[in-house]
Amino acid sequence: MATIKFCLVFFVTMSMMLSMSLAMPSLKVDYYQSTCPSAESIVRNTVNKAMSSKPGLAADLTRMHFHDCFVRGCDASILLESTPGNQAEKENLANKPLRGFEVIYEAKTQLEAQCPQTVSCADIIAFAARDSAYKVGGISYMVPSGRRDGRVSHIDEPNNNLPAFDFNAKKLKKWFSKKGLSLDEMVTLSGAHSIGVSHCSSFSKRLYTFNATHPQDPSMDPKFARALKTKCPKNAGNDYPITVPLDVLTPHRLDNKYYTDLKNHNGLLTSDQTLLSSSSTVEIVKNNAKQGEIWAYKFGAAMVKMGYIEVITGSQGEIRKDCKFVN
Ligand code: HEM
Ligand SMILES: *[C@@H]1O[C@H](CO)[C@@H](O)[C@H](O)[C@H]1NC(C)=O
Repeated sequence: MATIKFCLVFFVTMSMMLSMSLAMPSLKVDYYQSTCPSAESIVRNTVNKAMSSKPGLAADLTRMHFHDCFVRGCDASILLESTPGNQAEKENLANKPLRGFEVIYEAKTQLEAQCPQTVSCADIIAFAARDSAYKVGGISYMVPSGRRDGRVSHIDEPNNNLPAFDFNAKKLKKWFSKKGLSLDEMVTLSGAHSIGVSHCSSFSKRLYTFNATHPQDPSMDPKFARALKTKCPKNAGNDYPITVPLDVLTPHRLDNKYYTDLKNHNGLLTSDQTLLSSSSTVEIVKNNAKQGEIWAYKFGAAMVKMGYIEVITGSQGEIRKDCKFVN
């Protein structure tokens, strides 16, 4: 068993290293070693402190990294505020539920005091996501850094870049591959839905108005649907404040129980449950449900890969002084 695990981990590592050496030389582990040696520990301490009063922030910080990287690459475009004549990404409906911005700002304030204009906001987001995964999942991985911050953020850009909750596996595969991520990485990263919550509006169609013949999504366990209906009334709109956990089994722990939920037909979003319904992903779901350690390892590797999406480095972009505004 240990040998099998080792071989799998070895294989995953080798294929990651191969795919990364082909296309992505730019970032480096411990990039701030000489310019700001305490950079990563400042972020970690800030994240841990914030999470001790609000554990739910781990989910927000994980999602923030995803939403940043899929739109204009990992360039902290998600942190920019709207300016006269330009509404920023932040204002997009998909980003409205996001919290945790103040954790990034707090880390940035401390970093500016210690090493002015050295550590990018994009790297802070990547570090914070990693520290969250460690705190609520015991998952540890090294984050290559050296990203620069972008100067552009538009409200409509998440629409064509972030996958939506009603996507099927085929569409999810396509949208992730546009970002250079494989089918296995897509399924593995969806395991982030092992923490955090969703608003009713992201799944209420599955409960009440699924299609002409089935008011309720038949791929959802009826008992689970009944429980959800007690929390989410039929006409709950985007502003309805109630949220429910994405993972019913271990809602606060980043683990592979999300995949057990899917096997039990307790996936909350269409984009979750489709991973069991689709023949292209069902085996990946079953393996991830069975092998928690391997999933955790793959999750770390896939987060690293996601952190490379369309990064800008060197003299491109800038190191923002204030994560909310371009210099
Ligand atoms: C596969 C495609 C994905 C879709 C369609 C999707 C969609 C969603 C939706 C609709 C929500 C609930 C928002 C709300 O109603 O409040 C959500 C929450 C969340 N997503 Fe995803 N997501 C996807 C992949 C990912 C990935 C790759 C990550 C990170 C690696 C991620 C991390 C999260 C987290 C942590 C939450 C909970 C947020 C919180 O509690 O504040 N998701 N996602
Ligand atoms: C409704 O969904 C079910 C299950 O996916 C499917 O079998 C049925 O054909 C759909 N009905 C319509 C009218 O699309």
